Amino acid sequence: MISITILGNGNVAQNLFEAFQKSDSINVVQVVGRTIDKLNYFKSRTSLATYKDDLLPADIYVLAITDDVILDVSNNLKVNGLLVHTSGAVPLSSLNKHNKIGVFYPLQTFTTGKILDLSTVPICIEANNNEDLQLLHRLGNLLSNRVTTIASSKRKALHVAAVFVNNFTNFMYTIGEQVCAESAIDFSLLNPLIQETAKKIEGTSPKLVQTGPAKRGDQQTLHAHLTLLENKNQREIYTLLSNSIKAMYAEQKDKPL
Ligand SMILES: NC(=O)c1ccc[n+]([C@@H]2O[C@H](COP(=O)([O-])OP(=O)(O)OC[C@H]3O[C@@H](n4cnc5c(N)ncnc54)[C@H](OP(=O)(O)O)[C@@H]3O)[C@@H](O)[C@H]2O)c1
Repeated sequence: MISITILGNGNVAQNLFEAFQKSDSINVVQVVGRTIDKLNYFKSRTSLATYKDDLLPADIYVLAITDDVILDVSNNLKVNGLLVHTSGAVPLSSLNKHNKIGVFYPLQTFTTGKILDLSTVPICIEANNNEDLQLLHRLGNLLSNRVTTIASSKRKALHVAAVFVNNFTNFMYTIGEQVCAESAIDFSLLNPLIQETAKKIEGTSPKLVQTGPAKRGDQQTLHAHLTLLENKNQREIYTLLSNSIKAMYAEQKDKPL
């Protein structure tokens, strides 16, 4: 049995809590927050505490809090077990004040109120000794069939890639939704296209399956689109992305992938 304390109450804290609860080999002994009233989600399901309390003993303390406060909060924590954070961007060394430290980064997008199945979610782990790494492997394997050890420098690059493929892509959906709204078009007409674009890159390089006016070099269409966009930011984004695509595929004509 692995005993766990979760520190935090947001998207990741709630998703990890539910995943841990599903396993007979994991016991969530406590959830910690800044105030007890913020921990309502976990009420009656485990012990609740604030950072000012003496925390219960646990094998692993999972710090699922905002990136920017991980260093400060961890510096003020008194825990005996293995302390891990769940961030893609924060280095392991941020927890250096403690002896037993690690990272338990689930590579997925989590939103409060939407509990996900973690069985296919990659869990990226890191620790500063073998024993702790093995414990994180055991924990990860209880949740997911894809647990992988990744050092802080590589995790940072992975996180940058995740921002491009997830956060920026979602922002593109938002722009698409706005463009549709301006012409009173139902945005859901684009759903099959969104799904197919995501499915198409399974098992191939996205570079090989790029389509669109910029890839084809259709100057008249590109110009017509820019004329339609009234919003300056949208025009700038459209131009920047189209120029990047044109440059990449102009290179490709000389040098195949
Ligand atoms: N969301 C994702 O998709 C995702 C995916 C993978 C990894 N992560 C990582 O997981 C971590 C948590 O992300 P999240 O999305 O769960 O965040 P979130 O929902 O915004 O929750 C942030 C948490 O940080 C706490 N917090 C903020 N300032 C604090 C402070 N000064 N002292 C103590 N606690 C503080 C908040 O507590 P209060 O409620 O008291 O403000 C809350 O529990 C981050 O490191 C993030 O990079 C997120």
